[in-house]
Amino acid sequence: MSDVADRLEDLRRAGLYRRLRLIESPQGPRVTLDGAEVLLVCSNNYLGLADHPRVRQAAADAAERFGAGAGASRLVSGNMSLHGKLEERLAAFSGYEAALLFGSGYLANLGTIAVLAGRGERVFSDELNHASIIDGCRISHAERFIYRHADLEHLSWGLRKAGGEGALIVTDAVFSMDGDVAPIAELLDLARRHGCRLMVDEAHATGALGPGGRGAVAEAGLSGEVDVVVGTLGKTLGSYGAYVCASAKVVDLLINTARPFIFSTALPPPTIGAALAALSLLDGQPGMVEQLRRNGAILRDALAGQGLDVGASRTQIVPVVVGDARPATALCERALEGHVFAQAIRPPTVPEGTSRLRLSVMANHRADELCAAAAVIGQAAEELDIVARGSEQRISPVSRLRRAA
Ligand SMILES: Cc1ncc(COP(=O)(O)O)c(C=O)c1O
Repeated sequence: MSDVADRLEDLRRAGLYRRLRLIESPQGPRVTLDGAEVLLVCSNNYLGLADHPRVRQAAADAAERFGAGAGASRLVSGNMSLHGKLEERLAAFSGYEAALLFGSGYLANLGTIAVLAGRGERVFSDELNHASIIDGCRISHAERFIYRHADLEHLSWGLRKAGGEGALIVTDAVFSMDGDVAPIAELLDLARRHGCRLMVDEAHATGALGPGGRGAVAEAGLSGEVDVVVGTLGKTLGSYGAYVCASAKVVDLLINTARPFIFSTALPPPTIGAALAALSLLDGQPGMVEQLRRNGAILRDALAGQGLDVGASRTQIVPVVVGDARPATALCERALEGHVFAQAIRPPTVPEGTSRLRLSVMANHRADELCAAAAVIGQAAEELDIVARGSEQRISPVSRLRRAA
């Protein structure tokens, strides 16, 4: 049995120890963090809906009417009218026949991949996919082929090698740590040619890309064509939980065989009420999505103006890749001294040697706040001699990995 204290010490020595920070206010553009007011530039509450008065009120109303919890799994006695109502809204929003709620995005990916790829089959996964996709592939019993980031040639080679065993290609829509977007049309074309399904995780694309924030699949004009779309309620939609959109038959199979769906308590009514209200706001105020896009561009430009490379980001997620874990943590702490909170992200969340600040904007950030954040981070980087202009350290993980390949 390994010693717990030794393992913690190992993490500390490697610069990989994590601690919980304390937020004592709602998730707005500014929060109280460990007792001090800071500008928050690392939240997934992209449209500010988690703290919207209509969303809060809808959560409270749902709790009043249906109670705080669902009491059981959907297949036992936890299936409430609210669940079906939200699923119908989500399917219509995404352009699919049916949708199914899951306890979280992590669980949705775990459950869905294991249903769609099994023993004797192959699953194809982008190397920068989110951990929940990686874990879903691991527990699926399918053989895994990890293709180089967004590299269609590599994927194509893997598909050819698989013969008829290919079952599923799976990708983030917007890559969660880099803010770049998967080549969805090309992936679908490969899937069709090789008799595979394509599954796209829109966790960071909903509310950010596509008409009315319908996501990257909608932006590519492929709603209803991509076989399976996963979305989350805990990010743009300001609540908690997740959903899978697909054909009615696939959803039926998930209801019958996806273990995280079957063996887990249904989402509680307040989270459903909140998500329904958030969807209505998104429908009624598409200007929020435009504002988010503008803010992403403002932050990217401001960071570039500080000489910081933001890689291939074209969304609200903007990475500043530092390299090693310790300087990334040091940069985060120094930025905090300037009252800017952008969490340092280290392995295993990102590949070795690509530790970074992972910044994200919200639609309700002001332009001057984002420019000020970039200035604080730029100055902190300068002081710590972290981002040597033109040095290897500034290379984004995408090009770093391509070079290594
Ligand atoms: C791409 C992606 N998929 C899934 C998840 C997991 O979603 P949830 O937080 O609802 O478990 C995340 C979370 O950050 C994510 O970035």
